[in-house]
Amino acid sequence: MSFYIAGTGSALPEKVVTNDDLAQFLDTSDEWIYTRTGIRRRHVLTHEKLDELAIRSAQIALADAGVTGADVDLILCATMRGDTYTPSLACIVGEAIGSHAPSFDLNAACVGVLYCMEVADSFIASGKAKTVLIVSAEAMSKLVDWTDRSTCVLFGDGTGAMVVRAGEGRLAGVLSTNPDSKVIRMPNFEGLNSPYNVYEQEKLAMHMDGGEVYKFAVNAMGRNIEEVCERANLTPAQIDWYLPHQANVRIIDASLKKFKIDKSKVLLNIADCGNMSATSVMVLLDEYAKKGTFRKGEKLLFVAFGGGLTSGAVIVEWKKD
Ligand code: ACO
Repeated sequence: MSFYIAGTGSALPEKVVTNDDLAQFLDTSDEWIYTRTGIRRRHVLTHEKLDELAIRSAQIALADAGVTGADVDLILCATMRGDTYTPSLACIVGEAIGSHAPSFDLNAACVGVLYCMEVADSFIASGKAKTVLIVSAEAMSKLVDWTDRSTCVLFGDGTGAMVVRAGEGRLAGVLSTNPDSKVIRMPNFEGLNSPYNVYEQEKLAMHMDGGEVYKFAVNAMGRNIEEVCERANLTPAQIDWYLPHQANVRIIDASLKKFKIDKSKVLLNIADCGNMSATSVMVLLDEYAKKGTFRKGEKLLFVAFGGGLTSGAVIVEWKKD
C-alpha cells in the first residue's frame, strides 16, 4: 500500500518585497537578481508568526481532502526553524487542528517535503498510518544576514501543506545525501551565559558558497530524476509535470537540459516567491492544483536539493478529479 495526494493548501505572508525594495538598502539591482536567479519578488514575514500560517495551510489542506484533525494518524513538518525549538511546529499544528497523532519536525533543508513524503509512505506501507498531514513552513528571512547581498536576496518565507492517504498514487522515491558541513551552513544558538561553553558562537546567519551549491544542485537533480524514473519504470519524457525546487531558474534549466523536456511541463513560481526552502515545492503543488492544471492519472515528479547536502525525487500519480 502506498499513498495518494488527497488535499493541498498554502499560506504566504502578506508583505511582498521586490528586488527594487532590496536595492534601497543593499548594493544590488533587479537586473542582477533577475538575470542570475529568475527572482523578482518574495514574501517576507512581518506581523504574522510562522506557526499561524502553517496552521492555516494545514486547515486548507484538510478541508481540501475532506478530513478533519481527528482523521490524521501522523503529522510531519518539514522546517529548518519553527517559531520554537519545543514544542515542534508539528505539535503546534496538531494542537490547532485537534489531533493527538504522533507529530514531529523533520529537517532536510529544501528537500524536507520529499523526505516527509517518503516517511509517510513507510508509515502507510507498514500499516501504522492511513492519513498523514505533511506541513512545510520556512522563515528564511529569519535565517539570513540582511547585509549579505549574496544570500538574502535569494530567499522568501512561506508555508504549505498536503494530506496523503493510503491508496495507489506514489510510484517511486529516491532520497540521498552528499554530506558536507561547509557549503551551506546555519549554526544553532549556543545558549546564554554558560560558564562551561568552550565554543565561540558562530555567526548566527546562513553561510553559503553559491558556486559550489550550483554545481551540486545541477548534478544531484539530474541524477535523482534518472534514478526515480528508472524505479518507476518510466522515461523522463513520460512525466507530465516537473515540480523542481525553486532555488534558481538557471539551476532548473541546467539540470533538466539533458532530458530535452518541453519547458511547458516545468512548473515555476520562483519569480514571485524566491527560494522558500522546503516550502517551495509545496506551494508550487498547491498553486497549480488550485488552478486545475493536473488531470487524473497524470504523473508529477518532485525533485529537490538543499543543505546537508540533501537531494531527492518522488513521482506521484495525480488521483483527484
Ligand atoms: N547583487 C549584486 N551583486 C552581487 C549580489 C547581489 N545580490 N550577490 C553577489 N554579488 C556579486 C558578488 O559579490 C560577486 O562579485 P565579485 O565577482 O566582484 O566578487 C559576483 O556578484 C558573483 O557573481 P557571479 O559569480 O556571476 O554570480 P553567480 O552567477 O554565480 O550567481 C548565485 C550567484 C545566484 C548565488 C548562484 O551561484 C546560485 O544560485 N547558487 C545556488 C544558490 C542556492 O541554490 N542556494 C540555495 C541552497 S538551499 C538552502 O539554502 C536551504
